[in-house]
Amino acid sequence: MPAVSYISILLVDDDKKEYLSTNRLVKRVTEPKCKLEWCSSFEKAKELIAQHSHDLYMIDYKLGEHSGMDLLRMVEPDKRPEPFILLTDVADRTIERQALKLGASDYLVKGAFDAELLSNSFNYSLGRKQAEAQRFEHLIELNQAKDEFISVASHQLRTPATGVKQYIGMLLDGMFGELTPTQEAVLLKAYDSNERQLRIVSDLLKVARVDAGKVILKEAETDMNKLLAEVASEESEIARKRGQKIKLKPASKPATAWVDKDTIRMVFENLIDNASKYSRRDTTIEVVVRVNKKSVVVKVIDQGVGIEEEDLSKLFEKFSRIHNPLSTQAGGSGLGLYWAKKVVDLHNGKIEVESSPGGGTTFLVHLPRLLYK
Ligand SMILES: Nc1ncnc2c1ncn2[C@@H]1O[C@H](COP(=O)(O)OP(=O)(O)O)[C@@H](O)[C@H]1O
Ligand SMILES: [Mg+2]
Repeated sequence: MPAVSYISILLVDDDKKEYLSTNRLVKRVTEPKCKLEWCSSFEKAKELIAQHSHDLYMIDYKLGEHSGMDLLRMVEPDKRPEPFILLTDVADRTIERQALKLGASDYLVKGAFDAELLSNSFNYSLGRKQAEAQRFEHLIELNQAKDEFISVASHQLRTPATGVKQYIGMLLDGMFGELTPTQEAVLLKAYDSNERQLRIVSDLLKVARVDAGKVILKEAETDMNKLLAEVASEESEIARKRGQKIKLKPASKPATAWVDKDTIRMVFENLIDNASKYSRRDTTIEVVVRVNKKSVVVKVIDQGVGIEEEDLSKLFEKFSRIHNPLSTQAGGSGLGLYWAKKVVDLHNGKIEVESSPGGGTTFLVHLPRLLYK
């Protein structure tokens, strides 16, 4: 409850007589002590509520041409710390259910309540909101503890996994004697699995950092034509192994963006890696750079398995691996796109996707441009 010695209440009702009679009752409520104010206009009430003007709101069902329900729908009481109580002229279960569904804490019938009932309703509504706030606080703490756990666990996992990589590397380099072709093939498989494990651990660490707000961008003028040429050339080796080609179409004019080069590089490594993972052999991945008025737009276009329409909205969620014909074989953490969107957003950029099952996928990344270039 607030530190002031009374609860401030706003009655939203277009009838002054209602205010006067309610106020007489409110004055007799001592537990909690209350102060009632009145607002007769729907628009003004919306404004006051948006400013968290009072500790509790009583809303009349009838508000001129509007209804109290419209107001509840607009202000979304569920998302607000203050309780809302709906007042009606007659007892009506349907209205009551509707009001509670819209997030009202209680429902009172005019003329059917006295000071004691009002006091009960205020206490009940305020108590309910307080309990909700505590639960919410608890959820935030749990979430932070989970993020912290993921971060610590990934740090701990990285060291032994890096050790395995080094030992397998030594065996493959022939440091402990010549290998038979079978031994070498098995070790290469172990090496690949370990690489995948390390990539997942690194994704977890990257996500933990961005979630904790620890990513600090060092933006600078960055030539996106050049950056994408570098990324495309690095990724072309992996693509080649999968029988795929990467084709770069740079912008014809300077494509200077204002970005953190290392972070944005990783975004495109992710997108091109996905494009390749979720495409079959003999396909081409196109990377197109365009310069718009205010942004540099990079498209990563693949001819892969595509994405179902209903899955598009889940793509950028944390741990969202979406099943497709190649996803089991490809492996992954479901964190790449979540992280990519977070850091593109940090740049005030935008990431979009267009796709159809079987028809390939295009990711578009809009990055802020340096306007004087
Ligand atoms: N280019 C693409 N083509 C088809 N599906 C894709 C593509 N990129 C991403 N996806 C889908 O989105 C999901 C999430 O991608 P991402 O966050 O990079 O995680 P991961 O690649 O580790 O699974 C993938 O599991 C995949 O189903
Ligand atoms: Mg990925």
